This record gives sequence, C-alpha cells and structure tokens, in this order.
Amino acid sequence: MKVLIVNGSPRIQKNSYNIARYIAGIMEKNGVDHEIIDVVKLDMTPCIGCGVCSRTGVCFKNDESTSTVKKFDPSDATIVVSPIYFNSISGQLKMFIDRFQSLYASKYDLKKPAIDRSKKRFGAFIAVGGSKGYEDQFTSAELIMDLYFKVINTRFIEKLRIPDSDRVNAWEDKATLDEVERISLRIIEEMKKVKQQG
Ligand SMILES: Cc1cc2nc3c(=O)[nH]c(=O)nc-3n(C[C@H](O)[C@H](O)[C@H](O)COP(=O)(O)O)c2cc1C
Repeated sequence: MKVLIVNGSPRIQKNSYNIARYIAGIMEKNGVDHEIIDVVKLDMTPCIGCGVCSRTGVCFKNDESTSTVKKFDPSDATIVVSPIYFNSISGQLKMFIDRFQSLYASKYDLKKPAIDRSKKRFGAFIAVGGSKGYEDQFTSAELIMDLYFKVINTRFIEKLRIPDSDRVNAWEDKATLDEVERISLRIIEEMKKVKQQG
C-alpha cells in the first residue's frame, strides 16, 4: 500500500508543507508506505501542448515530471495539499497536473492506457486559503482536482477546506489537524478494504 502526498506550496514550513508532513507522520505510525512530492522541488517545465503525447502516450520531455507521473500507476492513494492562489491551486501544482495530459492522451486519444484503469485508488484534496472563508474560495481548485483524480483513475473521496490560514496557522489548529487525521485514516481504511478483497 503506497500513498503519494503531493504538496503544492512553494513555501517551506508553512501550511501545506506542514500538513503534508503531518499526513506522512500518520502513515508512518500506521506502517503505510508513503512519499511526499514537493512539486516546487521538481525539475520540470510546463506542458507546451505540442501533441506528441497524443501520438505516443508519453511526454517527450525527459524531466522529473515525466518520472514522477509514472509513480501514480502503482500507487494506492493520493492526497493533494495546496494553497489557494487567485481562487485556484498554486501555479506550481497546476504546472505539475498539466503534465498528466500524457495519461489522458494514452487513454482517450490512443486507447492504450498508461495507467491500470481497473485498480482501485483513493484520493483526497486539502486546500488552504489565506482569507477568511468566502463564496467560491475553493470551487475552482476542487474542479481541477475532480478532473485530475479522474485522469489518474483515483476515487475522490475526501476534501477539506481550510480558510483563514494567513491568520491561523493550520498546522497548529487542533480542529484542522483532527480533520486531516480523520481523512488520512479513512484513506488507510479504504486501501485496507481493497487489499482484503484481494
Ligand atoms: C499569489 C497568491 C494568491 C493568493 N490568492 C488567494 C486567494 O485567491 N484566496 C485566498 O483565500 N488566499 C489567497 N492567497 C493566500 C494563500 O492561500 C495563503 O497564504 C496560504 O496559506 C498559502 O499556503 P501555504 O501556507 O501552504 O504556502 C494567495 C497567496 C498568494 C501568494
């Protein structure tokens, strides 16, 4: 059982960064294999929409994004944590997600999926917005994640909206951490059920 924890924030030791590490700690405690992907550390360039992947199923770029995309097929769950930037996910995370277009192309253009579509994977999205809660603060980000999880054949089962993070440190807020723990434990439970079913 392997969980990928994707941190979309470029900031070290702030909200998304610390929540990603908190989740990693829960996985560790429960003996679940996990990996944190700090997208800001990846040596990657943006998708240029060249269409090569629509003909080959893979990205022609040989950077860290191409190798990281390959980690999602064998994974059992993905938890994405991102700041809200201009009502959306961070630019760094969006750039990373766009590079999954090769998976989309392999499935829908080439009909030769580069990901096992029958495997049961589980996904959660945790979003951190600096402002006090307002209408549609998280709407765009969640729409992106909805499509992203579909592309990586992952059931989007949990989401958490954390507003007001410029005032309250999410990693020091007990109610927030309890919710992050609940989500992490649910992901573990769902993975275990699949394993037991064989
Ligand atoms: C470029 C930029 C745009 C932002 N846009 C929004 C926004 O639209 N809504 C919001 O609630 N917070 C916004 N924020 C605040 C961040 O969501 C907030 O600082 C968050 O805690 C950052 O996540 P991090 O602590 O994990 O880095 C923005 C911050 C930056 C730098």
